[in-house]
Amino acid sequence: MDKKTVGLSETFKGNMTPKSFTKNPIKGTKFTIAISSAKGGVGKSTFAMNFALALKSTGSKVGILDADIYGPSLPKMMSINKKPESKDGKGLIPIEQYGVQCMSIGFLVDETTPMIWRGPMVTSAIKTFTQKVLWNDLDFIVIDMPPGTGDTQLTFAQEIKVDGVIIVSTPQEIALLDVKRGIRMFDKLKVPILGLVDNMSFFETDDGKNYNIFGEGGVEKVAINYKKEFLGKIPINIDLRVAADTGKPLVEKNPDHKVSKIIVEIAKKIKRSFP
Ligand SMILES: Nc1ncnc2c1ncn2[C@@H]1O[C@H](COP(=O)(O)OP(=O)(O)OP(=O)(O)O)[C@@H](O)[C@H]1O
Ligand SMILES: [Mg+2]
Repeated sequence: MDKKTVGLSETFKGNMTPKSFTKNPIKGTKFTIAISSAKGGVGKSTFAMNFALALKSTGSKVGILDADIYGPSLPKMMSINKKPESKDGKGLIPIEQYGVQCMSIGFLVDETTPMIWRGPMVTSAIKTFTQKVLWNDLDFIVIDMPPGTGDTQLTFAQEIKVDGVIIVSTPQEIALLDVKRGIRMFDKLKVPILGLVDNMSFFETDDGKNYNIFGEGGVEKVAINYKKEFLGKIPINIDLRVAADTGKPLVEKNPDHKVSKIIVEIAKKIKRSFP
């Protein structure tokens, strides 16, 4: 009787070896900083827009890439309702607003159109935005990430040269669980974490009393436990929210505002870690 040997074919074995990725830098930019948090609704986009404008206010040339394909916030928060142009039919020209170059899927579709896309299409959109946008001589590009630890995060971590991630969270227990997941994901994928921001940290009344609505000190504790830098506390503030909703981020609208100053301080801290 013939002896049948059961073994893996060479092709199958080849498919099992971990794929190695090349991390491409985003053309036209020096440094890429991603704003992330595994949890939704903690203020990533609000922070990303204000942080980008804070970097600009310190003299850097800055761009913002809205990487949230399913829920883009940039068009509304930066008050842009134009479509980007392409001179050669290949490269998209980013739209400049408040001195910052911007790109978002929201420029290309109607505000209320849902993006009903599977993962590979999201990955392909991210690649277009990082490779086919004509970013012009930027010092920093700020990436506003979607919530979670999914396709977009993985594409950035594996295939794009990300120089650092800032993790934003509220100090609430349920948000902190996600922060820990986020930290472990970036550590595992060897993307440097620049630090953690505690957003909606407290609410200050007009007579100066502070209320810790979502708890106290949670983000800082996580930063200490995971040996990451703690970048600062941003209070719950109506002016910050109104500015975002009306299309001119607070740092741009009112740079002397207490909250703007906190965000500019964070930007200065981050800038010091880059040559
Ligand atoms: N510090 C703050 N004070 C007051 N409102 C805030 C603050 N930070 C964020 N917000 C408000 O909270 C809401 C959620 O913020 P934002 O959209 O920036 O969160 P996100 O993390 O980007 O959400 P998503 O996960 O959906 O992308 C917005 O209405 C925003 O204006
Ligand atoms: Mg967002």
